[in-house]
Amino acid sequence: MAATQLKWDLFLAKALVSTLLVLLCLHTSTGMSGWGGCLDGQDVFATIRENSHWGEVVTELMADTRMEGVHWRLDGKDAAWFFLDERYIRLNTSADKILDREAQGPFLKADLSCYEEDTFQSVYRIMVEILNENDNSPVFSTNTVHSLSVSELTPVNTVVFTVLATDADNDKIIYSIDQTSPDAEYFKVVLPNSGEVILSKPLDYETKTSLSVTIHASEMTTAERYNTSTNITIFVLDGDDQYPQFLPCMLLLQNETSRICASPVYAVNVTEGEEDIVLDFFPGPIHAVDGDRGLNSPVSYAIVSGDDDGRFLIDRETGEMRLVHGVMDRLLTPLVPLQIMAYQDDDPRKYSVATVLVRFVAVNQFLPEFEMAEYQGFVTGGKSPVSLVNTYVLKC
Ligand SMILES: *[C@@H]1O[C@H](CO)[C@@H](O)[C@H](O)[C@H]1NC(C)=O
Ligand SMILES: *[C@@H]1O[C@H](CO)[C@@H](O)[C@H](O)[C@H]1NC(C)=O
Ligand SMILES: *[C@@H]1O[C@H](CO)[C@@H](O)[C@H](O)[C@H]1NC(C)=O
Repeated sequence: MAATQLKWDLFLAKALVSTLLVLLCLHTSTGMSGWGGCLDGQDVFATIRENSHWGEVVTELMADTRMEGVHWRLDGKDAAWFFLDERYIRLNTSADKILDREAQGPFLKADLSCYEEDTFQSVYRIMVEILNENDNSPVFSTNTVHSLSVSELTPVNTVVFTVLATDADNDKIIYSIDQTSPDAEYFKVVLPNSGEVILSKPLDYETKTSLSVTIHASEMTTAERYNTSTNITIFVLDGDDQYPQFLPCMLLLQNETSRICASPVYAVNVTEGEEDIVLDFFPGPIHAVDGDRGLNSPVSYAIVSGDDDGRFLIDRETGEMRLVHGVMDRLLTPLVPLQIMAYQDDDPRKYSVATVLVRFVAVNQFLPEFEMAEYQGFVTGGKSPVSLVNTYVLKC
């Protein structure tokens, strides 16, 4: 069993050697030119990995480069990348000359000329493709925005900005939001290859005027998944979404997304008979501001109701209120409640209403009074023109 196996193995080995010899003979006999050394010039295609080291074999030549009287010379555009070592063309690199496909381009070209007794015989055109290695990370393009302004009225699901990163190795890039960045919740990426960053939560200038988010650009299909990131600051621009607010704010609700104020009730006491006076309210003065502090649109004032007798005037610009015609009998008119409004000059549909209470009080309503009807006292006798009277209370 073992003996036949061995015989068979030997037979195969012999067959292989003779085939190789035939092939070699074919090479040397058909390729010869002149009396020997140089073969017919042919094109040599080879590949080599990017970042390969010095001495790496680029290709092996069929010709015998050691034959006497024959010599070879490398020249052409990229000849310095190669050197000839017997029948091998090897790579010539150094610490500061690294084979970089991105810098060099995908192909190296050189000519290998063959001379017999200094007579040119043939040329081999050498074409070497540099095989790509993933040796570059994505890089955000230089015109990537680092900050931008966005109106608070921007609808959710709108693209707020677009980023673009490139990869020198031409790898496909996907973009994502760093969920640990402070305002990640406001943004989302729907199409990971597009670089489009979409608003996912309403903006509100009144509670947050700027947002910060980190965007990653990562290689999509490589093993290394090289990535880079960029920080983007979004300044929220005030939009006209708030109504005027009378001050001071009567706070109804405040949380991290909203602050809701009610209007104060402005009150004043006026003595009956008084007129043509500026009313001094508490709280006061009457004043309203645009709720959009960033826009701060001018606000005007008007009396809406309650002044059927035409007693009051309000200054449209300042909100100052005057009593023009006074009340002569407070028993008939003890209290005048009015509604006033503050509206935006640029959009009167945006207005707020507040209540004004004008109470009429009697002239000298309260006279000064002593606590008791009668006091007892004594005084120390002496020469002094002034002396203290000590009073005391008699217990009855
Ligand atoms: C190898 O490259 C260096 C730098 O380009 C060059 O100076 C040198 O001559 C090259 N060596 C060969 C054998 O071509
Ligand atoms: C970025 O690269 C690092 C290191 O390779 C990796 O740990 C991380 O998960 C990558 N991040 C993203 C967003 O791909
Ligand atoms: C008006 O007078 C009443 C008492 O007469 C007092 O309670 C009230 O605080 C006064 N209001 C103002 C705005 O001064």
